[in-house]
Order: sequence, then structure tokens, then C-alpha cells
Amino acid sequence: MPAALSALAFARALLAWYDREKRDLPWRHKPNAYRTLVSELMLQQTVVAAVVPYFARFMARFPTLQALAAAREDEVLTLWSGLGYYSRARNLHRTARLVVDELGGKLPSDEAELRQLPGVGAYTAAAVAAIAFSRRTLPVDGNVARVLARILSERRPIDRPAVRAGLRAQGQPLVSARRPGDFAQAMMELGALCCLPRNPRCPQCPVARFCRARAARATSSIPARTKRPAKRHIHLAGVAVERQGRLLLVRRPAGTLLAGTWVLPLQEMRDGEAATRAARRALADLGLRVEGTPKLVGELRHVFTHRDATASVFRARVRGRIAVADARWVRGDELASIPLSTFGRKMIACAQASATV
Ligand code: ADE
Repeated sequence: MPAALSALAFARALLAWYDREKRDLPWRHKPNAYRTLVSELMLQQTVVAAVVPYFARFMARFPTLQALAAAREDEVLTLWSGLGYYSRARNLHRTARLVVDELGGKLPSDEAELRQLPGVGAYTAAAVAAIAFSRRTLPVDGNVARVLARILSERRPIDRPAVRAGLRAQGQPLVSARRPGDFAQAMMELGALCCLPRNPRCPQCPVARFCRARAARATSSIPARTKRPAKRHIHLAGVAVERQGRLLLVRRPAGTLLAGTWVLPLQEMRDGEAATRAARRALADLGLRVEGTPKLVGELRHVFTHRDATASVFRARVRGRIAVADARWVRGDELASIPLSTFGRKMIACAQASATV
């Protein structure tokens, strides 16, 4: 039998462990609402180790919400380049502008008001309210959901919204009234260091005595997950076109994969369409005609959130004038200062590796 779940005893054990074991992470220094918002957005869907250098660079360039609001979107995306999920960066930038223009430059402390901001979902609003404003609320991300599912022996799949809402409702009374922000981060930390998805380190767990899954020897079957549908596979064709040592790049339109970032002219292949034809379409969209035949120089694979992609990379010579606004000729030394995605970089590297000088 696990110990009865006393909120006070649970929080005390968890916080004592957190005080001893917590990682020294940059957003835990000088926390304020802005730093918390940026770090929590960066940390969504991304592991801590990957976020640390991005957070440092971002804060060095945009130390305040005001500095971010004053920046151009391209620069914000450049600093996000490689982190993925670029809508997070665009929304963060919109939020900064909105808060500066309409909310007197201060992020709201109220969870419901935070939730109104672009890109701020239930998790982020609760995280900022708890961590930056000491509101007694529990942000439930994947790690926290797993911890709660095990503590409470929730056997239903935790990726179902109703199950997650139930976990949050049951977890909420456990939140320390004195240290709600630390409680939230301690739950995340427990999920990251101890209550691991596979092979949890229960002997080291500060709250193992409260854990119903452990008592039932069910930590390997809890949490349950619904099977994700297989990712759709897409085939893309991208074309490297060079002119006087400059490479032609286009900006992905709003509402599409990688929106706002710069890539080689790119098209998704239609059913049964040859890659060469898709490559021609990518250039025709810009008002350009291919001279001769695009030359296939490589293939690469990339895993996006909801799609697996195979991309054929071509080189081509073109005629005509560019007829769209979001296209530019970029020198090699400019590549570091425009927003590229990891996928965009891979395509460019693939084309450059084949360049005959
Ligand atoms: N994951 C999400 N938020 C986090 C935080 N504040 N610390 C560590 N990991 C996290």
C-alpha cells in the first residue's frame, strides 16, 4: 500500500529533493516573466540540452520583452533557427509586440489573461503564472503527466485531453502554496531525472512512497499511450540555383510547413509526379524557366513533427526574372544571419557538397 497522499508531505519531500538535485539551468537564474515565457516556449517539444545555448543567445540579443518587440521577425527567426516549430518564435514575437503596444509592457500575471496571448496555451500560461508569479497552479506537460499518472495510477492513455485534464485536477491540490513555481519545476525535474518513461529510477525517487503505480508494480505499463497514427510521408523536390556566387532562396509562406524560414525553391511532389517535374514547378512558381534539365545532386530524409520527408535536391540553370517578393540571392557569408531551418540547412549543404567549383 502506498502512503496516503498527503499534499503537504508530498510537496515537502518533492521540494527537498528539488533543492538538492535540481539542474543549474540558465532560466532558473534571474527568473522573470519574460525569461520564463521564452524558456517555456523553447522547451516545448525540445529537450533541455538543446534549448540551453539557444536561450543564452536569445537573451543576449533580446534581454527584455521591449527589445524583442522592437526586433524584426527575421532576426527573431534567425535566433530560433534549428530549434524547429517556428510558429513558436513568430507567436512569441507577436506576443511581445502586443504586450508592449497594448498592455503597458508587462506580461499579465493571471493565467486566463496569459492564455489570450498568441501562442500561449494552457501549459505555458500555467507555467508562467506559477514560476514567474507564484500562482498556485500546475502546468502539465508530458513529464508532469507521466509523474501524475504513476502517482495516481491512472491507467487510461495520458495523451487524451480528458485524461490530462483529470490528472491536472487531481494534481492541483498537491501544489505547494508557498512555492508553486518550484513545485512545478520540481515535477518537471522529477519527470526528466527520475520518473523516466522507461526504467524509472524509483529507488531514488523522493515521492516513491506515495506512488500507486510502484505499489502495484505497474510503472512499465503506466502511463499508457494511444497509438499515434503513422506519419504521412511526403516527397519534396528542392532546387539550388546560383548566380554570381549567390544562392537563390525563398521564404516559406505563412500557414505552410516551416513558415517564415528560408529554403531552396521547393515543391511537394504530386502523386506519381517525377521529381524533376516538381523541381521545374518550384522555379516556375517564381517566374523562372529552367535551361536544360535540372540535375539531381542528392537525396535526404528529414523527420518533421507530423510528416516524414524525402527530399530530392537538384541544381539548375535558369532564365527569366523573379516574379515574387519573398525570394532573394544570398551570399554564403549571409547564411548565418537569415532564418534557416535544420531542414533548409540540410538541403543547402547537400547542394553545396555537389558544387563543382
Ligand atoms: N521543461 C519544461 N519546462 C521546464 C523547466 N522550467 N525546467 C526544466 N525542464 C522543463
